[in-house]
Amino acid sequence: MEQGTGRERVLSGMQPSGALHLGNWMGALAKWVELQDRYECFFMVADIHALTTGYHDTSRLPELTRAMAVDWLAAGLDPARAVLFVQSAVPAHAELFLALSMLVPLGWLERVPSYKEKLRELEQREIHTYGFLGYPALQAADILLYRAAWVPVGQDQVPHVELTREIARRFNHLYGPVLREPEALLGDAPVLPGLDGRKMSKSYGNTIALADSAQTVETKIRAMVTDPARVRRTDPGHPEVCPVFQWHRIFHPDAGAIESACRTAQIGCVDCKRQLARLVNERLEPIRERQAYWSGRPAEVEDVLVEGSARAREAAEAVMDDVRTAMHLTEGRAWTDGRGAATGPLPR
Ligand code: TRP
Ligand code: SF4
Repeated sequence: MEQGTGRERVLSGMQPSGALHLGNWMGALAKWVELQDRYECFFMVADIHALTTGYHDTSRLPELTRAMAVDWLAAGLDPARAVLFVQSAVPAHAELFLALSMLVPLGWLERVPSYKEKLRELEQREIHTYGFLGYPALQAADILLYRAAWVPVGQDQVPHVELTREIARRFNHLYGPVLREPEALLGDAPVLPGLDGRKMSKSYGNTIALADSAQTVETKIRAMVTDPARVRRTDPGHPEVCPVFQWHRIFHPDAGAIESACRTAQIGCVDCKRQLARLVNERLEPIRERQAYWSGRPAEVEDVLVEGSARAREAAEAVMDDVRTAMHLTEGRAWTDGRGAATGPLPR
């Protein structure tokens, strides 16, 4: 496709870990969709990252990778405007990760807040591994390989982008100005709590999936937690403690009306939820339509990833070439086609 559009680049990624939910959409995908028109966007299915905590059983990776692509397309990412690709289909990610691993001090990796947290959280999984410690260095490679200016992520990922900047500075200090320091691009969307008021997360079973049917959405919303103090229909409610109201803030065009109707007991929770279900379903309808379209066309989804990965490889190889030059890892280039195949007699 067109090269050098002159627009700044955006790169982001997600691990393929199962059906995306409304929280992922509000928190990340909606922003990505918006960025497609303003930047040259690269969106990556981070299947190698998935290995860092899931190396024990990798059998579902192909299926999960495709499912993630379907969810992205359903959410409105457009292969004509953004590059959708798979990390493992671009070998330069592994190559740059290897190069960076030579110069990233262990202390920098051990200091990343998510590292010790996850070790504790996933203690039964045995992730005291080299790869898991290197997770943020691989993420740095993902970003630096495209000279991305912006990395749209959630607050939890900011330390990773900061570390990426430090790694770029260290590389540039050692070998010359090759890598671009990226910046995190934080969303401004309010956080959508889960159905039970806790953080929305698959592991809590409190999500609405992008692929849920209208009926499922209704059933789930009907069962949502509300203000526990509102026992009878005539009790005034406290919308500030009610997750249903948090959702109305996001989905209702006039949440203020709901708020006062709740406080004065003019509206009952059943009705309030029925309205919310309708609004959420309205919002999900175009996503569901695209979901149906793409999930019925696996070959087309595969084409999107194959083409996106080819474009990503081209962009990444250009930067990798500069990296190899800067690091004096250039001898191999003269003897091979750059992919390891010999092109002539070996020099003496
Ligand atoms: N670590 C990110 C997450 O868990 C996923 C990811 C991998 C990523 N590589 C990336 C995000 C590069 C932004 C840029 O959400
Ligand atoms: Fe929550 Fe709506 Fe019930 Fe008020 S009326 S407590 S906002 S569900």
